Formats: sequence, structure tokens, C-alpha cells
Amino acid sequence: MSGSTEGQGVVVVTGAASGLGARVAERASAEGWTVAAIDVQKEALAALDDATVASRHEVDVRDAPALRRVFAVLREQHGRIHGLVNSAGLTRPGPSATLSEADWRLVVDVDLSGTFFACQAAFDHLDEGASIVNIASIAAARGLPERAAYSAAKSGVAGLTNALAAEWGPLGHRVNAVGPAWTNTPLIQAMVRDGVLDEKSMTDAIPLGRLCTEDDVADAVLFLLSDRAAFVNGQTLYVDGGYTTSG
Ligand SMILES: NC(=O)c1ccc[n+]([C@@H]2O[C@H](COP(=O)([O-])OP(=O)(O)OC[C@H]3O[C@@H](n4cnc5c(N)ncnc54)[C@H](O)[C@@H]3O)[C@@H](O)[C@H]2O)c1
Repeated sequence: MSGSTEGQGVVVVTGAASGLGARVAERASAEGWTVAAIDVQKEALAALDDATVASRHEVDVRDAPALRRVFAVLREQHGRIHGLVNSAGLTRPGPSATLSEADWRLVVDVDLSGTFFACQAAFDHLDEGASIVNIASIAAARGLPERAAYSAAKSGVAGLTNALAAEWGPLGHRVNAVGPAWTNTPLIQAMVRDGVLDEKSMTDAIPLGRLCTEDDVADAVLFLLSDRAAFVNGQTLYVDGGYTTSG
């Protein structure tokens, strides 16, 4: 690996200010990665621990030109990038027949287009043998009612992962995805609060009988970032206690 600053190299994490992205940032830093955090939430970004995060970049992943500017700055600050984790995302559940056009576009723009724009912006700055990990979802593999936009976006993330793996693999870069089951983050907490989800039905649907944890997801992401996954490319790894292959 050339050009990286220290340890395992530089990993950029989008959606790093909360939930899965924040835990991945923490765990990557503990494993010796230099972590650059991207998020749209300015205050939450500022609140991240200096011991975890080497640089913070406030940007909306829907804004492709802004992402390109941020990755150019990142390159100046840290050198070439060895890892990119695309965790920025959101959901707007609701009956498909009445889902607003604005909600459909928001979810697809952030979860799918934002993931693609970040991969694109990173491309020129990737180190040899770089690893990209996109956060998909069980919604890419199983039909979830009232999640049309989210399921379409996350299935798109899995397809995008396949396409980039095929296109960038010959250049030495790997592109994979992780598909978590329900994990207790602010995203899920909001849906439980709104009565869209309840803990018992989520837990009952999972063969291993518990929800996913942020560390379950971080373990899979760190594996895919690492050289231990040197021959893993174009995969969506479901971290779901068996949910997507049961029932
Ligand atoms: N929590 C779960 O059960 C679960 C399950 C499967 C997949 N996921 C996916 O994992 C990822 C992280 O979700 P989470 O549960 O940690 O949610 P979260 O709400 O805790 O974190 C999402 C982060 O993304 C950021 N973000 C949202 N829109 C953005 C934008 N336009 N530009 C930049 N940053 C933006 C938010 O500010 C937030 O910090 C998402 O892609 C989500 O779809 C979550």
C-alpha cells in the first residue's frame, strides 16, 4: 500500500456521525485505520471522538460535485484511500400506493445515488488494492411491505456492488456489500417509536432469535476491508442471523 498515513491506511466512512457508520469508524480506528468521517449532520460530526476520527467532512452524499471536492481534500490531508464504507442512508416507510414522490426520490437519491456518487468521487484517489464496502440491507433480498423505495434502493446497492466489482476488480479494487438485519440504531428506534416496527416481531423473524448489533455489522465490514478478504469481491454478505435464507 502506498501513500497512506499509518497503520492499515485511510478509510473513509459516510454516515459516520451515527449508528452503524459511527461504530464502524470507532472499530476501524481501534484496528489502526486512519478514519475520515463524512456526514450531513454537522453537530453530530463535531461530537465524534478525536481519538476515532482524523478528519470530518460535512457533505450531503446526494451532492456529487461536493463529494468530489471532499475527496480531493481528503487526498491532500491523508494521501491515497485504502477503504471506503458507504453507510449514509435513511428510510421513509409507508404504503406504496400513497408513498409521496418526494419520499421515493429522497430514499433512492440518498441510499443508492449517494452510494454511487461516493464510489465515483473516491475512484481517482483509491490506493492499489482498495476495498469498498457498501451497506445494503435485508431489504435487498426479502420483500418487506411498505418499504418499496428502501427495498429498491438497497437492491440497487447490491447490483451496483456487483457492477463495480466486475469493473474495478481488474484494477485491483474490491467492492462488496454488507446486508444487516434490524439493528438498534436511531434509524430503527424511530420506526419502533412510530409503531412501524416492534422488537418482538423483528426478533421472532430471525432464526438466531435476536436483533443484529452494531458490532456484528462492524465485524463484517472490517473483514471485508481487510486483506483476509483479499479474494472476496462482488458479494453482499448478509449479517442477519439467517433471516434472508429462512421461512
Ligand atoms: N439499523 C438497521 O437496522 C439497518 C439495517 C440494514 C441496513 N441499514 C443501513 O445502514 C446504514 C446506516 O444506518 P443506521 O441504522 O446507522 O442509521 P442512522 O440514522 O443511525 O445513521 C445514518 C447516518 O447517515 C447520515 N446521512 C443520512 N442522509 C445523509 C446524506 N444525504 N448525506 C450524508 N449523510 C447522510 C445520517 O446523518 C446518519 O448519521 C443505512 O444505509 C441503513 O439503510 C440499517
